[in-house]
Amino acid sequence: MTRHCFVIGQPIAHSRSPMIHRHWLAEHGIDGSYERIEVAPGEVPGFIARLRAGEFAGGNVTVPNKELVLPLLDEVSETARRMGAVNTIWREDGRLHGDNTDAYGFLAHLDATVPGWDVRTRTALVLGAGGAARAVITGLAARGVVRIMLVNRSPSRAQDLAALFPGRVAAHPWSDCAALVGASGLIVNTTSLGMRGQPPLELDLSALRPGTIVDDIVYVPLETALLGEARRRGGIPVDGLGMLLHQAVPGFERWFGRQPAVTPALRAKLEADIPGR
Ligand code: ATR
Repeated sequence: MTRHCFVIGQPIAHSRSPMIHRHWLAEHGIDGSYERIEVAPGEVPGFIARLRAGEFAGGNVTVPNKELVLPLLDEVSETARRMGAVNTIWREDGRLHGDNTDAYGFLAHLDATVPGWDVRTRTALVLGAGGAARAVITGLAARGVVRIMLVNRSPSRAQDLAALFPGRVAAHPWSDCAALVGASGLIVNTTSLGMRGQPPLELDLSALRPGTIVDDIVYVPLETALLGEARRRGGIPVDGLGMLLHQAVPGFERWFGRQPAVTPALRAKLEADIPGR
């Protein structure tokens, strides 16, 4: 029997998740489908009822529904609970399970790109304080990064997020960024700045120490201005596409029972779809 899966959100037309999962379905010769479905926040309970009734094996949840689905599920992982957001749902023994694989995806890509990064990274600078920042900080904390400096346009949001990780995360004013750069072994941009169609991210990297890892979760363009500048200054750039690819792995495994791989062929397929590479 064909197993049907979905990604729900609004807007949903630009989601790249179908490209990833369909690649793996073909690679493994699995009888399955993965579709984008536009679901407005008010339609989420109705959609979850369809899932419960057996129409789908599971799927992904994206903006603006990640927080809304959480209370509608039977089992929610500790990670998703801590993040207050679910991005992956599956049915198991008639119950609906939810997890958040963003922190996993972020770490898996960092591990693959800069093996051993966690051994040498004690201090990190995180830009942004939204859902993505929460996932990144959860991941960094899990790997023992001792000091995480958080900077956000709206200081109160940074303070609220920092308060969830007492003793490890501290909020700093945006105006301190240039100095914080020199004190960081890892810098992560989790804001939408630098994305095509968004304002540029103006971050002074003149104090960047060579060998500092600079990770941008923006992947359109693939090499953002931040990553280009980091490369020129002897930093180690890590692009955002890998996080997208890796966060998809646990869901596919749950729905279809096979562990998929993030291969150069899959990456190339997604890269070819990114405008203005
Ligand atoms: P996500 O869940 O993808 O992290 P989000 O919760 O909307 O999305 O968060 C977006 C992040 O980008 C926030 O840190 C936001 O800053 P604010 O908390 O001050 O809104 C940041 N961001 C978006 N546009 C920005 C801009 N023009 N200048 C500075 N920061 C911006």
